[in-house]
Amino acid sequence: MINSDDITTSAMLNHYLIPLPAINKSSELIIMVRIQKFIFNLFQVNTYILYDETGECVIIDPGCVDEGEQAILAKYIEDQKLSPVKALFTHTHVDHIMGSQFITDRFKLKPMLHKDGLPFLERYTETALSYGVEAGKNPEYGEFIKDGDIIKFGNSRLKVLYTPGHADGSVCFVNDDDRFVLVGDVLFKQSIGRTDFPTGDFDILQKSIREKLYTLPDDYTVYPGHMSETSIGFEKSNNPFISE
Ligand SMILES: [Fe+2]
Repeated sequence: MINSDDITTSAMLNHYLIPLPAINKSSELIIMVRIQKFIFNLFQVNTYILYDETGECVIIDPGCVDEGEQAILAKYIEDQKLSPVKALFTHTHVDHIMGSQFITDRFKLKPMLHKDGLPFLERYTETALSYGVEAGKNPEYGEFIKDGDIIKFGNSRLKVLYTPGHADGSVCFVNDDDRFVLVGDVLFKQSIGRTDFPTGDFDILQKSIREKLYTLPDDYTVYPGHMSETSIGFEKSNNPFISE
């Protein structure tokens, strides 16, 4: 049984918020998506909750693997009075989906994914066990998403980019209103996703980054699946693996 006094793990210490919505000169509220990051499981994956002024939220890459991490996620949603309306996978590597069944059981949401990621999800239990994690059954899943789809929550929208190379089924989610992109394990600050797992391919990853991510404006903030955020412009100039 978890109580609030128990919720003091590193995941609690590592989350943060982007600034509160600003007020413009005419005192009209500027709509802004708020992004809450949690760092979960032994792989230190970034799980994100995105929400706007309506209170509707999406949960991206639920990595909360045990009761403590699951309580942290659920408490945040409860404290902020959020209504989870969608769950999404950037890709289906084991670390990004460890909390998926909890999300389905607790919030009645089956995560949306690109269909090419299905083989990883179907090997979830055996893959988790290979890392010493007793993970239960393979998670349920919902609708398939594809390149160009628009995913709506509240008054906000995310555009899907298909970006394979790290793993088949990898997608990124772009928000043009607030100028950010969630990239999973495709691109990191001065690094890129590994290509030595099944379906990984450096040439394809390079093409995804150059043709899908580096064509976004330089000021777009990049929220990766591990470690800290960066920007498209910074990576174009400083990424040692794929420069402009
Ligand atoms: Fe990955």
